[in-house]
Amino acid sequence: MTNQYEIKDFDERGRGLGQGLAIPFTYPGDIVEAELVNHRKKTGKLLKLLSLSPHRQNPPCPLFGKCGGCSWHGLKYEAQLKFKEEKVKALFGDSLPISPSLHLPILPSPHLYYYRNRMDYAFGPNYTLGLKSGRDDIINVEKCWLTSEKSNKILNRLRYFTSWKKLKSYKYALPNKIRGPMRHVVVREGKNIDNIILNIITSDKEEFPLEALWEKIQDLVQGVTWSINLSPADRSYGETQKSFGQDYLMESLAGIKFKIPVQSFFQTNTHQAEKLLQIVKEFAALQGNETLLDLYSGTGSIGLSLANQAKQVIGVEENEPAAKLSEENAKLNNINNYSALAGRVENIIKSLEGKFNTIILDPPRPGVNKKVLNKIGEIKPGKIVYASCNPFTQKHDVEILKEFGYEIKKCQPLDMFPHTPHIENIILLQREEK
Ligand SMILES: C[S@@+](CC[C@H](N)C(=O)[O-])C[C@H]1O[C@@H](n2cnc3c(N)ncnc32)[C@H](O)[C@@H]1O
Repeated sequence: MTNQYEIKDFDERGRGLGQGLAIPFTYPGDIVEAELVNHRKKTGKLLKLLSLSPHRQNPPCPLFGKCGGCSWHGLKYEAQLKFKEEKVKALFGDSLPISPSLHLPILPSPHLYYYRNRMDYAFGPNYTLGLKSGRDDIINVEKCWLTSEKSNKILNRLRYFTSWKKLKSYKYALPNKIRGPMRHVVVREGKNIDNIILNIITSDKEEFPLEALWEKIQDLVQGVTWSINLSPADRSYGETQKSFGQDYLMESLAGIKFKIPVQSFFQTNTHQAEKLLQIVKEFAALQGNETLLDLYSGTGSIGLSLANQAKQVIGVEENEPAAKLSEENAKLNNINNYSALAGRVENIIKSLEGKFNTIILDPPRPGVNKKVLNKIGEIKPGKIVYASCNPFTQKHDVEILKEFGYEIKKCQPLDMFPHTPHIENIILLQREEK
């Protein structure tokens, strides 16, 4: 069934919303013809643009509209910022009993293209390699505008290598549906320190010829790793098998050097991450005598950047290699007051003793576990600085923290991911002593 829709807003995934239907690649101000594709989920498919939103631009990427990577690339950058800022204001506006000037304007990304230090690509049918489009299709990407020219060259080399070695893709080994081994490749590239590493993720069908790849590609990269993903889940993560060259990435943020294990999280937009650290530092406003708890600490970027202003910093991170390396990163940067505990925050926080003046929260998209929020309510830090890549779950968690007497003092959205609907938001919460 096709129909005409006037797009007035976005849903949580950044899809245009018209008469309750979510239609990808449409924006407020568009009038479109669309067909209903899922009645239950209320999603539609764009068929024809009848009248264009004044916020639209012609993006330089020829894959726009097919590739699922940058669904907001058809929006002018000022409009992307405006919509992100409005979303944060709509979520937190009513909870700010303070001057609107403390609702800080969104900070644009320093670079609009080639800003990512990590991209995860999937192998597709006929030796294609690229990004997903919809549920199953893989769009062959010869040039991605989000990483770098060098990384594009690597993709092309990899495509050639898999077709030369006849390494078929895992999901799409047509016509006889026999699955090949190739699942994903993760390309990680330092923006402040010139180095690139690859993680090739396959099924356990056959041994991946890693040494042969290393021979063919070491003029472009500093290390290659092979991992196996046994899970049917379509994710770019697996059990590490072997590596040649570096099995870690080197990157620096705000003058601090980081060694990042091949499969550990690191802030994706290096230059904007430096701004994030600056804001967290301003919000925490440490005096030098505080004990700081950095929850969901990863390789330590936030905790280490604050260590020279605190008495002691403790990080908590479930990814053990990342937790260990955050301590190594402390040594690498001559930081002596940092340590990290490896494990899930919800388990570790139960038995933490001592007083913590300030807590940093930087959880993954689902937000903070309720038990952790309750325990924070018992610890009663004077300040909480909450950085989030999902303001919707952040809002939910902040409402719980408010029940323990915390109030929002500052709210700073920043754009980590231009041309996508993702929003990063940092909130300062303070507890009024009664
Ligand atoms: C958004 S990242 C933040 C990392 C770090 N703060 C940084 O800036 O690089 C979230 C981190 O939380 C970790 N994580 C996810 N769930 C966790 C849990 N339940 N307990 C501890 N760490 C967890 C992930 O491994 C990841 O490193």
